[in-house]
Amino acid sequence: MNAISPIPMRYRTHDTIYPRGWYCIAESEDVAADKMLPVSWLGQQLIIYRTKDGAAQAADAYCPHLGAHLASHDGKLCDGRITCPFHKWEFDSATGKVEHIPYTDVPVPASVRLTLHPTRETDGMVLIWHDPAGGKPSFEPFDSSGLRGDDKWVRYAVKSWETRCPFRDMLENIFDTAHITQLHNAAALPDITNYEPRDYGLRLQYVTDPDAGEETPISSFEMNLSALSLLTQIYHGVHFTALFVISFTPIDEERMVETARLYLKDNGNAEAMEQIGKAFVERFVFEVEQDLKVLDYKKHLTQPRLCAGDGPIMKFRSYAAQYYD
Ligand code: FES
Ligand SMILES: [Fe+2]
Repeated sequence: MNAISPIPMRYRTHDTIYPRGWYCIAESEDVAADKMLPVSWLGQQLIIYRTKDGAAQAADAYCPHLGAHLASHDGKLCDGRITCPFHKWEFDSATGKVEHIPYTDVPVPASVRLTLHPTRETDGMVLIWHDPAGGKPSFEPFDSSGLRGDDKWVRYAVKSWETRCPFRDMLENIFDTAHITQLHNAAALPDITNYEPRDYGLRLQYVTDPDAGEETPISSFEMNLSALSLLTQIYHGVHFTALFVISFTPIDEERMVETARLYLKDNGNAEAMEQIGKAFVERFVFEVEQDLKVLDYKKHLTQPRLCAGDGPIMKFRSYAAQYYD
């Protein structure tokens, strides 16, 4: 049993904001037509729905009239209109504009409207833009469709974890190469052969030795980071191709959720794919859960005492800093 009692995040990090970026707030398949999905992320209450043309859209959950939660009681979305449960104001779901107030003909100013958030739908996720300074989207999230090509893929597994890790330290973990061998007892990560800043964030490429005696030999893999909130990993194995789409979203200042989705390229051999999928999931789940035993309690040190062999942690930190300014 672990006897450490969690202390508030403010004692473990100086970060007081959520960094700029695109955050996953729902799986695409959970957002249906004519239905508002209430969610709570980034310390906010939001509703997600589809507009008349099918586009996913996120909005503040609170009605600008008197603050009712739009998805409470009998609040509804029908035919592109959201009706508030309290005084039945109606809003256009695509623009947020007030369309109808049942008890007056005097129009309200155009500034009275639902607060819509810039929303994207990428890789089976619904994403919203967040900028602590209130700015418009300054880049688009990475989209793996280029990597997937025209091939058929199978969504093999999805898994989520809630953690109390300081937000930026979740991704930093990937650059902390010493913990791979020391905490996970795994083979050392291969060297990064390409470290490329991109509009959306960062592209990293690795070349591995497929003859290293691994059970599922991998010849190369690539990671793409969208700011600090999305991570895509594609593995080219000798007999398979696997893709992880991972999101990191704060619930509030204390907690965040990591969700990992594993896709496998359909090679027509269901038995082999099951074997590969199982091996990937087992390894991934094992490593995440081992990480969280430490990360849930760690502190973000602004001046860690690093030594030779610690991996490009400070390189990651200078990348991360651009999203906090
Ligand atoms: S609070 Fe929504 S219509 Fe009044
Ligand atoms: Fe790890």
